[in-house]
Amino acid sequence: MKILLVGGSGQLGRAIAVAWRDDEIVAPTHADFPLEDRTTWAAVLDRVRPDLLVNCAAFHNVDVCEVEPAQALAINAVAVDALADAAQQRGIDFLTISTDYVFDGSATRPYTEDDCPRPISAYGVSKLAGELLVLRRRMNAYVVRTCGVYGLHASRSKGTFVDRVIAQARAGEAIRVVNDVVASPTYAGHLAEALRALVATRAYGLYHAVNVGPVSWYDFAAKALDVAGVRYPIDAISAGEWKAAARRPAYSALANAGLARLGIALPAWDEGVAAYVRDKGL
Ligand SMILES: NC(=O)c1ccc[n+]([C@@H]2O[C@H](COP(=O)([O-])OP(=O)(O)OC[C@H]3O[C@@H](n4cnc5c(N)ncnc54)[C@H](OP(=O)(O)O)[C@@H]3O)[C@@H](O)[C@H]2O)c1
Repeated sequence: MKILLVGGSGQLGRAIAVAWRDDEIVAPTHADFPLEDRTTWAAVLDRVRPDLLVNCAAFHNVDVCEVEPAQALAINAVAVDALADAAQQRGIDFLTISTDYVFDGSATRPYTEDDCPRPISAYGVSKLAGELLVLRRRMNAYVVRTCGVYGLHASRSKGTFVDRVIAQARAGEAIRVVNDVVASPTYAGHLAEALRALVATRAYGLYHAVNVGPVSWYDFAAKALDVAGVRYPIDAISAGEWKAAARRPAYSALANAGLARLGIALPAWDEGVAAYVRDKGL
């Protein structure tokens, strides 16, 4: 399969490039495929003529989105709709990534694809709008929500949450992690494998794809230290002590119900962090 991968320099994009290595992947840079500029990227699409267009690009700084909702909607919704439109017109399959932040966090068990989204941040609103704009087309598209992605090639210079926790412990610094926020942190390598299995099915639609099992960020940090062989205390704090511009769901674990129906399984959250620590040599 020939794939045009948007956002290929990001942590999920890089994981896809590795996990889908048997496919022919073209991954233009942000500058060569700017979501803001359809004329520029449409020319690339026409030149590459892929079988599948994969969008891993997003404006996903949640706190900046909160004060720049127009830009969040422009990138995460309007531009995603334009990509879907271009793919549909050309008979190209489309896959785009969405987020657990479409939910409000009031659940007490992992959200399935059948649960009603109710975002509480501008970022979540913009990603939900992107989902709906794609799904309304009834085209050959996969919309895949994931959560707390950490990959070997994190784009931010500070690295992933796991990197920071382990580095702080090794440096003897105080580590403070929220213990009342529950999610499904997901290793990009495992997510990339599941996405490849999904596109092999041609079962288009809305999916959740995460490492399995709800876990608090505190317990996740503790497991990261454990698998890295570091014994070090973590201070538990509440989300209220962590000041941020945007509200975040207190509970946003996802259940991979749709993938399960297709016989596609992801490893558990603790296997995810263990694989990451091993693969990164932490
Ligand atoms: N990270 C998470 O915890 C998380 C959780 C849930 C869902 N998601 C979703 O998962 C997807 C992948 O996230 P990620 O963590 O892999 O992100 P990432 O590491 O920040 O990578 C984003 C990629 O998109 C590119 N990009 C950003 N803005 C662009 C634009 N306007 N036009 C073209 N390319 C642009 C970036 O290029 P440059 O770096 O060169 O700008 C980079 O290659 C996103 O849809 C995100 O919303 C992420």
